[in-house]
Amino acid sequence: MSAKKTLRIGLIGYGFMGRTHSNAYKRVGDFFPELKYRPVLKAVCARNQERVQAFAEQWGYESVETDWRALIAREDIDAIDICTPNNMHAEIAIAAAAAGKMVLCEKPLARTVAEAQPMVDAVEKAGVRNTVWYNYRRIPAVTLAKKLIDAGKLGKIFHYRANFLQDWTISPELPQGGEGLWRLDNDAAGSGVTGDLLAHCIDTAMWLNGGIKDVSAVTETFVKERLHSGTGELTKVGIDDACIFHCHFENGSLGVFESTRYARGHKALNTFEINGEHASIRWDLHDLNRLEYFDHRDDPMIRGWRTIHVTDGDHPYMDKWWVPGLSIGYEHTFVHQVADFLKSIEEQTICSPTFREAQETQKVCEAVLESAATRSWKDTGVNWDASRLINAEH
Ligand SMILES: NC(=O)c1ccc[n+]([C@@H]2O[C@H](COP(=O)([O-])OP(=O)(O)OC[C@H]3O[C@@H](n4cnc5c(N)ncnc54)[C@H](O)[C@@H]3O)[C@@H](O)[C@H]2O)c1
Repeated sequence: MSAKKTLRIGLIGYGFMGRTHSNAYKRVGDFFPELKYRPVLKAVCARNQERVQAFAEQWGYESVETDWRALIAREDIDAIDICTPNNMHAEIAIAAAAAGKMVLCEKPLARTVAEAQPMVDAVEKAGVRNTVWYNYRRIPAVTLAKKLIDAGKLGKIFHYRANFLQDWTISPELPQGGEGLWRLDNDAAGSGVTGDLLAHCIDTAMWLNGGIKDVSAVTETFVKERLHSGTGELTKVGIDDACIFHCHFENGSLGVFESTRYARGHKALNTFEINGEHASIRWDLHDLNRLEYFDHRDDPMIRGWRTIHVTDGDHPYMDKWWVPGLSIGYEHTFVHQVADFLKSIEEQTICSPTFREAQETQKVCEAVLESAATRSWKDTGVNWDASRLINAEH
């Protein structure tokens, strides 16, 4: 008999994220054996009985539900994991918190700040543990960037630059709405690249470089009308296909962010570069195990960009995997987030980012969209440090 305590998971949605999370729950115990909690794949929920049953059999879930309310009502579930399109996050999270369940929610927290606020209130009022899957923070090279910045290696920071570029929506023949294409439907997604891709960049940026104070943005919708999969009608496209914004951080540095789904040749070019008084760092998702570092204080004869292969046992999370020099990948970020979540239960601390922290990212996204719509600078209203302190018991 295992001496471990169990965390009984109820997963909602078995698409892309349903798979990454299921994989993480299954692998975490093997690679983080010291954890006192062990996830149990208790139930998975989606609307189609046949398909959800097939998913449950493939991934090893004990049972299925076709109504998420029935899943939340079950007494044998401790944590609800929300892997549905963005328009479903709020209703499910609020109901789950009211039922006393822990809530793990996919990003973005919701479609708007107004929709997200009752979610924050619900988890805090119920006192249930909560986290949002901004998983890029848990790529070891990105976590290392955070350590270098916090250790003061870069000195005063002047510039933060981030991109998230894709090319999969260029064809005007692509419909909006429905399975796989809900991201193009503003009702389901809430926005285009801003909430889908830039939200990741913004979360990482504020985690590394502090709060974003104000923004000035431009957005574009290149394809104005698309067939809607639900109605079959040619319908106005409401999402932003591309977004560029610049901003001031609270620490006085300047930020530049760009995201599009129209950059032919780029599938998921997610990058950042940070320039400080002493040193600079840069990172690229396509080469995720490497962090590039330039330090002006080096001996001038050998000064230059160095590439740190973030695979040594001393590097964040890497002592859990193979031997030094061997790479890990995208799926490991989700294993790390589950490990950190389980540890947070054990240690009675937060698993960052909480709903409250993710709401700060939501505020930036909303200010970006408002700025673009009004062609003016917008204050974000972000209070980053406070968001990380409040609710520390969860
Ligand atoms: N953290 C990340 O890097 C990352 C990456 C991709 C997506 N996401 C986020 O994850 C969420 C899901 O995205 P995805 O790519 O997995 O989408 P997807 O389209 O692959 O899967 C969505 C799932 O939700 C299910 N679903 C929809 N309505 C439902 C309902 N009423 N009841 C039960 N199930 C329902 C669908 O059947 C499907 O299984 C989104 O919020 C998205 O923004 C995050």
